[in-house]
Amino acid sequence: MRSERPRLSVIGTGYLGATHAVCMVELGYDVIGLDIDEAKIERLRAGEIPFFEPGLPELLAKHIDGGRLRFTTSYPEVAEFADVHFVCVGTPQRKGELAADMTYVDAAFSSLAPHLTRKVLVVGKSTVPAGTAARMESLLLDLAPNKDVELAWNPEFLREGFAVEDTLRPDRLVFGVHSAWAEQQLRAAFAPVLETGTPAVVTDFATAELVKVAANSFLATKISFINAMAEVCEVTGADVTKLAEAIGHDARIGRRFLNAGLGFGGGCLPKDIRAFIARAGELGVDQAVSFLREVDEINLRRRVRTVEIGLDLVDGSYHGTHVAVLGAAFKPNSDDVRDSPALDVAASIGRRGGTVVIYDPHAMQNARRMHPELTYVESLIEAVTGADVIMLLTEWDEFRAMSPERIGALVAHRNLVDGRNVLDPVQWRAAGWLYRALGRP
Ligand SMILES: NC(=O)c1ccc[n+]([C@@H]2O[C@H](COP(=O)([O-])OP(=O)(O)OC[C@H]3O[C@@H](n4cnc5c(N)ncnc54)[C@H](O)[C@@H]3O)[C@@H](O)[C@H]2O)c1
Repeated sequence: MRSERPRLSVIGTGYLGATHAVCMVELGYDVIGLDIDEAKIERLRAGEIPFFEPGLPELLAKHIDGGRLRFTTSYPEVAEFADVHFVCVGTPQRKGELAADMTYVDAAFSSLAPHLTRKVLVVGKSTVPAGTAARMESLLLDLAPNKDVELAWNPEFLREGFAVEDTLRPDRLVFGVHSAWAEQQLRAAFAPVLETGTPAVVTDFATAELVKVAANSFLATKISFINAMAEVCEVTGADVTKLAEAIGHDARIGRRFLNAGLGFGGGCLPKDIRAFIARAGELGVDQAVSFLREVDEINLRRRVRTVEIGLDLVDGSYHGTHVAVLGAAFKPNSDDVRDSPALDVAASIGRRGGTVVIYDPHAMQNARRMHPELTYVESLIEAVTGADVIMLLTEWDEFRAMSPERIGALVAHRNLVDGRNVLDPVQWRAAGWLYRALGRP
């Protein structure tokens, strides 16, 4: 190691990698970011974050010309520069299967390893099936000219929308290591974070891999639990928002992640629980996580239910109706539309003959790329003007703040589906709206 403060590389500069690279510079490190996507690297070099993440463009602008951050597409350059390499490439769901597609992880390790001529630490950050780290360790030892290179696994817990804060001040760090040396390098690579008292859980590879999928499985289960209660509320006339408030007061349960609605999506939770089901099957412990199939199904049923509630409001047919869809991102403060519940519902209504007009404050470009058949407009006002029904599907602040009177003056019919349970039914009904939501009368 050249100095106490290792030089870092970040391989794969997507949502996770770009955030990690920029935040590590902010924490005082010299960082090189690598991606195989040349256009992405060009934009980063030009000081532009290729996705929406609050606070990240400002940090990149602060550091891009400071000489401690650069971007490349060259593996030899990265290998020459860094002491600790963070691998942050994608692990999406395989087409037509539950399992994760590991080709990007395999390619990143295989491309880096042949250039490792001195002892360095390679750190996997991507979310992977148990057993991947052991496999990558043998791959490194096979392909690296220097046989002293080591591997560690350091799963990432950042939340899109809060990614900068979560990276600079994480709840915890998890270090999956095989040696005291690897632990020391990780401690050096996260020194400023550890100095603020952030706990580090040091463990083996398999545990480090499982921590991440276990955490996401727990969160997905909590969301699907309250959405299952919403299904029961819908047939009993109960109100799931009151139910969540009441059970949430129990400190053993807690109120967070009990917001009933259209359910979870994005590039992590859905594919992570599915990959976990697939991997558990391969390991012969499918029964242990079979509940996750139900978690996934409850979640997907909410999308179907949302389409049905809208259908009620347009008298049983979407044909010839103008449906204003508010939100395309899988959650607010993100432009990520991967497995977005909002877009899924929008596309389904489009297939049923509705004219879907979508507005999202930041995810329009990504949404248009995925569903070019739908109509996109540049403002909330444009989307709702002349609408037969409004469907609020992503809870951006702009939508939470809507005035029932002002919006009511623009629509053709005052019909509203609150897919995220964020509006006040009393206020909207008082303004003459037919207000419908998931899990509440
Ligand atoms: N996005 C999140 O909030 C988040 C949070 C925690 C963990 N994760 C995990 O992090 C990983 C990355 O997720 P993401 O959302 O950043 O994905 P992403 O698709 O935004 O980014 C992946 C990047 O890797 C690049 N890449 C692919 N193959 C490469 C290769 N061989 N060499 C170099 N670069 C390559 C791609 O071009 C892309 O820019 C996944 O395993 C994900 O589950 C993501």
